[in-house]
Amino acid sequence: MTQRVHSIAVIGGDGIGPEVTAAALQVVRAVGVSFTTKEFDLGAARYLRDGFVLDEATLEELRGFDAIMLGAIGPAIGDTRIPGGTLERGLLLRMRFGLDLYVNYRPFHGVEGSLAEGCDFAIVRENTEGPYAGEGGVLRHGTAHEIATQGSVNTRFGVERCVRYAFERASRAPVAKVTLVHKTNVLTFAGDLWSRVVADVRAEFPDVAVDYNHVDAACIYLVEDPTRYSVIVTDNLFGDILSDLAGAVTGGIGFAASANLNPAKTGASLFEPVHGAAHDIVGTDRANPLAAVSSAVLMLEHLGEDEAAARIARVVRDFDGDAAILGTSGVTARLLERL
Ligand code: IPM
Ligand code: MN
Repeated sequence: MTQRVHSIAVIGGDGIGPEVTAAALQVVRAVGVSFTTKEFDLGAARYLRDGFVLDEATLEELRGFDAIMLGAIGPAIGDTRIPGGTLERGLLLRMRFGLDLYVNYRPFHGVEGSLAEGCDFAIVRENTEGPYAGEGGVLRHGTAHEIATQGSVNTRFGVERCVRYAFERASRAPVAKVTLVHKTNVLTFAGDLWSRVVADVRAEFPDVAVDYNHVDAACIYLVEDPTRYSVIVTDNLFGDILSDLAGAVTGGIGFAASANLNPAKTGASLFEPVHGAAHDIVGTDRANPLAAVSSAVLMLEHLGEDEAAARIARVVRDFDGDAAILGTSGVTARLLERL
């Protein structure tokens, strides 16, 4: 059998991004997966240097890779030189929308000592619509009568493909259950669409149980009884907020991985840890690479390298060292040793 050589675009980005990405690639190489990389200099540092965020040509080039690995994007806290939204909308969301990465898949495993110790669940977050779509505007800016609107866009097509992905995931999960999280009692238009789509799609998956929680209640359950969840499906903004909470109760954002997926594979999918650039610890060997390594596991699954993915996942799961003591290189060395 000839081995496939995967092409990976690498956006190390800012702060600790390049450090954790390098560690993750080292681990992927160690399990014998063949790949080529091309680095893309994008993020806050690049923007501050020459004003470049992302253009159409670079986006098209990224689309052609088998996968994109991203470290972290963003300036240091307190650095006000970059207007809010420049990189978020101009780079990260532009890739999510432009490459049609319509699912943000975030699996969580409660590590020892965490509130959700031993729990396994995942959040399937719609990734191209909702309040993130950019619908809205400002009138009479700067006056006493200023108006700002920010609509939530929910299309039947967009909701359905996300919900279907959640059901597919749940049908392969240890507990076959999907929980829709929304606020149907207040956001009645969008909530009704989401509810009807879930009711329609569940008919295709008779073995998957279905539950519903309001988003505020889900915040309580995630802390007090996370065992009730297997696959949560929710809109873009609820998914953003819930996944930070889920990261916190399962052991910290240092462990949380994410996959921005185009399940239809019409272009590259993007894999990134949920954490940020943590400029305060750059170059100190203190960044925990486990979230980036777990994101690489999701990348390998997407690339069809299931065996390699499972091998790394097992070692990450059984990892018993203290990342705060071992540091980036220590954690990486231990992972390599155990593989
Ligand atoms: C995330 C981040 C992004 C989001 C920001 C950086 C735009 O918080 O990936 O969760 O809101 O989606
Ligand atoms: Mn977030």
